[in-house]
Amino acid sequence: MRTITDIKEMQNYSKEQKRNRKIIAFVPTMGNLHAGHISLVKTAKRKCDILVVSLFVNPTQFGAGEDFDSYPRIFKEDIIKLEREGVDIIFYPSEKEMYENSKTSVYVDEYSSILCGISRPSHFRGVTTVVAKLFNIVKPDIVLFGEKDAQQAFIIRKMVKDLNFDITIETREIIRESNGLAMSSRNSYLTDIQRKQASHIYKSLIGAKDLIRNGERDIENIKNYICKIIKDSGIEKIEYIEIVDDNNFNLIDSINGSVRILIAIYVGKTRLIDNIKVDV
Ligand code: PAF
Repeated sequence: MRTITDIKEMQNYSKEQKRNRKIIAFVPTMGNLHAGHISLVKTAKRKCDILVVSLFVNPTQFGAGEDFDSYPRIFKEDIIKLEREGVDIIFYPSEKEMYENSKTSVYVDEYSSILCGISRPSHFRGVTTVVAKLFNIVKPDIVLFGEKDAQQAFIIRKMVKDLNFDITIETREIIRESNGLAMSSRNSYLTDIQRKQASHIYKSLIGAKDLIRNGERDIENIKNYICKIIKDSGIEKIEYIEIVDDNNFNLIDSINGSVRILIAIYVGKTRLIDNIKVDV
């Protein structure tokens, strides 16, 4: 396994692999790797000749007052995990390498200002900008993302289509802790009590899925059901509970076809998101 920190070196490496007709798979991350990331890495490994993982805590996707400074940076632990999975290249650039004198950003209109984009207005611009840059640097054929960040994955697919990146985007199901809590780098901020409270997010989603499967079609009834379970667990701050058409991420007022229920809440100061797909 080799660590590359320089953009030109990464680009030249990838060009050479392409000349040799190698398939490059890529898993972009901000490090602090958990089982969700590792599962993406394992899947990616089966699909390629060369596997690249990036570790870069991207400053432009954090808003003022968010956890950019305290975001866990555990490079040494991360590389041990990645070496075990047979990763070929770790791309580990500095902030200066990625952004010095940068004036350009990529923004996917409409979808970046709904759901998480309401409370985090600059977040998705930061994500799409860094992901577009990483695509141009790593030159992957296949890129894997987790479905926990379902809005992010949708927006990235849209960017890839709109900007004609010749890249296949694949997503994989959420990996959960044994109590149902979706794996997230931010789970490490939770106390034991908060972790227990947070497990009710998934319980509410599973319950809502059952309600829909048993014929409930009223969006407000479904949202109220979720809200009650979450509030009963002691979680006080719900940012949103929304239901979208899973094919186009439009908010819906009636259920038919595949929908996705999405939630953002705060447990203490920690913001958590989760979602579930329901096929009707
Ligand atoms: O999902 C993440 O970890 C980040 O948003 C990503 C895609 C690595 C971009 O910084």
